[in-house]
Amino acid sequence: MDNSKNVACFKEVMGNYPTGVTVVTTVDEQGVPLGLTVNSFASVSLDPLLVLWSIDKRVSTYETFIKTDKFAVHVLSADQGDICSLFASRDIDRFGNCEWALSEQNLPIIAGASGVMQCKTFKTIEAGDHTILIGEVVAIESENKEPLLYHKRKFGKIPDEFYI
Ligand SMILES: Cc1cc2nc3c(=O)[nH]c(=O)nc-3n(C[C@H](O)[C@H](O)[C@H](O)COP(=O)(O)O)c2cc1C
Repeated sequence: MDNSKNVACFKEVMGNYPTGVTVVTTVDEQGVPLGLTVNSFASVSLDPLLVLWSIDKRVSTYETFIKTDKFAVHVLSADQGDICSLFASRDIDRFGNCEWALSEQNLPIIAGASGVMQCKTFKTIEAGDHTILIGEVVAIESENKEPLLYHKRKFGKIPDEFYI
């Protein structure tokens, strides 16, 4: 089968797979905060507590995320569609346009998330045009807010009729 057809079909199938949305942050060697919107996030293990996400090798902060030994994953709440767009937009001062503070682990923490997991890098795995980053959770906070959902390039929240 023509590979471009496979790619189009892959995008259609994955676009029809609803996810939550996260923003992953870290600091570079100069202490500058960096971050991007990520929906490849998944839980991996309970003992130890491990999570994963994958980063596109074309992302401008790729080298920093590969070199760093820590990152913070923010599970976005339903009212954080603007944060999702901000951290996926180019040529904009992301941290100048949101409320955030440095944690004790020296990681940038964005205000208002449903949950935040601060992680130390456990393993990185080369995977095609992405690299998988596995993190061990070293600090975790939950506000247990309604989550932001992502489906077919649109944001939303859990509909009222979802809980039956
Ligand atoms: C909902 C959503 C999910 C995304 N998930 C990922 C992801 O899992 N991994 C990734 O590398 N980029 C992902 N992106 C794209 C990055 O957020 C985007 O390429 C990045 O912010 C570009 O950063 P740069 O301008 O620093 O290169 C996602 C974007 C959106 C809108």
